[in-house]
Amino acid sequence: MTEPWWSGATLYQIYVRSWKDSNGDGIGDLQGVISGLDHLEWLGVDGIWLSPTMPSPNRDWGYDVSDYYGVHPELGTEADMARLIEEASWRGIRVLLDLVPNHTSDAHPWFVQARSDPSSPMRERYVWAKPGAGGGPPNNWRDATGASAWTLDEPSGQYYLHNFLPSQPDLDWWNGEVRAEFERILAYWFDRGVAGFRIDVAHGLVKDSQLRDDPEAGPEHHPMEVRSGLVPVYSANRPEVADIYRRWRRLADSYEPPRALLGETWVLSPEGMARFYGEEADQLQLCFNFGFLFADLSAGTMADLVRRTLASLPEGATPLWTGSNHDVSRFPTRWAAGDERRSRAALVMLCALPGTVVLYYGDEIGMTDVEMPEERLLDEMAVLAGRTSRDHFRSPMQWSDRPNGGFAEDGAPTWLPMGDCAALNVRAQRADPRSTLHLCRTLLMLRRRGLASSGYRPLVEGPDVWAWEGASRFVTAVNLSPRTAEVAGVTGTVVADTGDGGRRSVAERLVMEPWHAVVVEREG
Ligand code: GLC
Ligand code: CA
Repeated sequence: MTEPWWSGATLYQIYVRSWKDSNGDGIGDLQGVISGLDHLEWLGVDGIWLSPTMPSPNRDWGYDVSDYYGVHPELGTEADMARLIEEASWRGIRVLLDLVPNHTSDAHPWFVQARSDPSSPMRERYVWAKPGAGGGPPNNWRDATGASAWTLDEPSGQYYLHNFLPSQPDLDWWNGEVRAEFERILAYWFDRGVAGFRIDVAHGLVKDSQLRDDPEAGPEHHPMEVRSGLVPVYSANRPEVADIYRRWRRLADSYEPPRALLGETWVLSPEGMARFYGEEADQLQLCFNFGFLFADLSAGTMADLVRRTLASLPEGATPLWTGSNHDVSRFPTRWAAGDERRSRAALVMLCALPGTVVLYYGDEIGMTDVEMPEERLLDEMAVLAGRTSRDHFRSPMQWSDRPNGGFAEDGAPTWLPMGDCAALNVRAQRADPRSTLHLCRTLLMLRRRGLASSGYRPLVEGPDVWAWEGASRFVTAVNLSPRTAEVAGVTGTVVADTGDGGRRSVAERLVMEPWHAVVVEREG
């Protein structure tokens, strides 16, 4: 059996508003993405996931959709999207879109009608409930900002549910029409050549049918699993979501080539995450592994997480690794505290693990989170929640050392502030064979030669060094410590190196500098 196209693929997340602006308004757009495809082809990317591209009032920057069949006018037109899919395909790059099925925008015509006419069938597409016993919200559920997840609709005296902002009403996934609508939406984009979807809040679609209170969190819970002191076991994470994904999977599989479903499965344990693949591997084909992403960059912890992940996945499923995204910060900051040696080692780790990798735009040059003046911040959810703004890791792509980093023409008002483009940019790194960009390209080329193939076998699992080999001839070793270390029993040619070593042979004894990673190709 041949492997599906996404297995072992390198996917690249493009936060469209921040990648490349084609018309001088300071907002990245689809024409900009088209103009950046040569960079991705050169780098060795197999697919791109575009952050939301559909029309939206942008209260949550596209994660509040008002039309699932369109393209946001700030980003381009449907013709631009068609062109992008075509241009990408010429370069062997597939295009995945972001689907937001948990909620719509309150400006979506369904909700507008649901609110204005309680007797309309649209009403039932959302979750409404009578006030609770004391006259307040129906239950104790909290939204992502920490406030009640219920907002009162005064004219009708009923509350509607929103797990995120009040302007993002949750859909009722017990409703058959909602299910049918989304199957139509999937098919609509699949028919247009979209290779798959990243599914927003994939763990959260179905809510408890009795709307039971979420339990209080205890000390055993990781902060990531807790929402305002509660564990969302009823407001999200219902097992019944499996039925939806089995149906979507059958739809995705009915296309040639099959379309991919990649879930934003916000669960901490690899075992919990693995459930979304389905025991029979008949649900989502790929799931984000947040336990891995939130783990410390230490050899023992990471090796353990990878072991647990591989042990939990159903037969034939593809693991997925990622270090940065638009919600949780960039790994060169989070894992590496800006230390280039550490972030280069982390890049090797991400690219050499068995399975699919999702790089976030800028990972290829080691872009870090960016300081921004308070008055430029636009992430409303973070303000309401009193959390760090996600804008810090959504800053525009740094293509060159021009004033606007080559992201937008000089003098254009960029929608978010630029980072330090003089220090870090694509153009300068293209010219430097020792740069992170070239390291990344080398790794992606090695992936095409089997670096990330299955058959993971750990050779050393901490505390300082972690080394493994796969079914192919490659051995990867990462020293995630400030100490020099040695790995015994490795003989071959160094084909990727975060240090200054360059291509060379090793015989039996691999010496590793602090925060150093290498890939060795064994002979024969
Ligand atoms: C997902 C998105 C995030 C958004 C939220 C609500 O977690 O990644 O950016 O705010 O869903 O849609
Ligand atoms: Ca633009």
